[in-house]
Amino acid sequence: MCGIFGVVNDKAATETLLKGLSALEYRGYDSAGIATLTEGELDCRRAPGKLINLEQVIEALPLEGQTGIAHTRWATHGQPNEANAHPHLSLNVAVVHNGIIENADELREVLSASGVCFLSDTDTEVLPHLIANYLSAEVCPALAIQTALREVKGSFALGILIKGMEDQIIATRRGSPLVVGFNSESAFIASDMVAASGMADEILYLEEDDIAIVKAHDVVIYDAQGELVERKKVTVDHDQFVATKEGYDHYMLKEIHEQPNALQRTWNGFSSTSLNQIEEIDFANIDRLQIVACGTSFYAGLVAKYWFERMADLIVEVDLASEFRYREPPMPKKGGCLFISQSGETADTLAALRFAQSKHQYCLSVVNVPNSSIARESDYVYRTLCGPEIGVASTKAFTSQLAVLFGLVKKAAAERQAGKGILSELGKHSEGDVISRVRSALMNDEKRHAIERAARIFENATSAIFLGRGQCYPIALEGALKLKEISYIHAEGYAAGELKHGPIALIDEGMPVVVVAPYDRLFEKVVSNLQEVRARGAKVLLISDKLGCEMCKDYADQFIEMPTLHEVLAPFIYSIAVQLLAYYTAVQRGKDVDQPRNLAKSVTVE
Ligand code: F6R
Repeated sequence: MCGIFGVVNDKAATETLLKGLSALEYRGYDSAGIATLTEGELDCRRAPGKLINLEQVIEALPLEGQTGIAHTRWATHGQPNEANAHPHLSLNVAVVHNGIIENADELREVLSASGVCFLSDTDTEVLPHLIANYLSAEVCPALAIQTALREVKGSFALGILIKGMEDQIIATRRGSPLVVGFNSESAFIASDMVAASGMADEILYLEEDDIAIVKAHDVVIYDAQGELVERKKVTVDHDQFVATKEGYDHYMLKEIHEQPNALQRTWNGFSSTSLNQIEEIDFANIDRLQIVACGTSFYAGLVAKYWFERMADLIVEVDLASEFRYREPPMPKKGGCLFISQSGETADTLAALRFAQSKHQYCLSVVNVPNSSIARESDYVYRTLCGPEIGVASTKAFTSQLAVLFGLVKKAAAERQAGKGILSELGKHSEGDVISRVRSALMNDEKRHAIERAARIFENATSAIFLGRGQCYPIALEGALKLKEISYIHAEGYAAGELKHGPIALIDEGMPVVVVAPYDRLFEKVVSNLQEVRARGAKVLLISDKLGCEMCKDYADQFIEMPTLHEVLAPFIYSIAVQLLAYYTAVQRGKDVDQPRNLAKSVTVE
């Protein structure tokens, strides 16, 4: 959730640290801070709020030093104020932390009893004090830290500075991601490849409980048992990790527009990789598929359920990872599980994957970030090739997940000899059709302006409802999620037929209801639901195709017309509409589109 960064070099560290933090800010922006070593002494600056506040603090009071650690926070324990901002310090140790220390209260009690005075409400602050207790002249500091961390329960990626040790950062991780990067002059630590890749030419991934002594020109790594080990360095493909707005006002808008290319790349590169020597899944050998994910990725899983069941004759269960992992459902022998995650680091999804593996399930994953924990721990990985997604609200990752899932459904249909009728209806060019329709929806200025105008439906709204049926039901859920996360309007998505079983009581005069309804076999049923809400005073925005908009011209207040596409493929095109609708609403309301309040990109805590 938080972002950590560090640099060891022969020149001033602050500018590089701020640059690293700016690449990581999407992981959290409640506060930021930096600590450096100057002539052996620890120095630190911190500020609540976004990185710009820290930059101002440093401008007023510059920070010297060539070795430093930095942090951008998404608050878990304690308010987002300066006292709770990282780095946290004891007399001789500074720590930045991503993760959660579960036994922080117990450790705090013991440390307080020994005279430690705590200055923050964070779980992290126990770490510098605990580590300080284990440092001694006789033992290598890295091994002393490793011993100290045996007392700690929870998850962490840590960057640590020790007073007097100006040429090094100590880095370690358990359950949270951390990479170490190098170029000819400097070494870096970073929560993710995107931050390091702007600067490093080579990168290595630390394994669980590895502890690394990172110096400008070399790195020494001990594994969990304290044995010296080498971890493979990989060359950074700088182009793959370019993360700039490229002239767009926001990352989100840029990422929405990247979707045709992202879909093309994902389909062109559709293949699986495996780090383990396991045979690829044959869908003919499983009776049901369990899909597990969170948030938007969960909605991609819901779309896939409709596809797998209709086209591949395969029963699919879709679960939220946070529920699945604790429900401990019985799992069939040799069952198949599919985990969907943009970041590949979502704590609940990762824990669900580990649970499934403990039950000897065949574990596939769909991830965007290569070498992420979920990618590394799955039996087979299918990559979405949409490039880094920086906007906190997921857009291109979602449609790229749909692309991979559609590829998997076709594979399953072939292996199970199912879905012949529907597949022949879709024809050989279905992927090309999707890409061209998505491209035409995005390139058409008139259409985009129509969506921008339609967003005015939410002008004075405090609440909104999204309706859909069949494959567009998950798109209604996704539309509501997008709207609430970036414009802060309370929005709920419902299966259109479910409305009369309770939620219709919410409808009152002028309430915006967005109906996502391509002209398909369920269209007439959705139109009945549309009329039910309109009769009760709702303001209806219909998102449909040419035929659908014509059929409903007397029933809706506003229309967004999307290109026509086979109903099975509709989720691709209708996603674009709900993404743009949320985007323009947030812009019209003056909200921070790329960094909405309380959120962060990668949820590495439960
Ligand atoms: C919403 C959004 C989140 C993520 C969710 C899962 O726009 O981005 O709901 O989809 O946190 O994240 P990943 O896919 O990284 O596991």
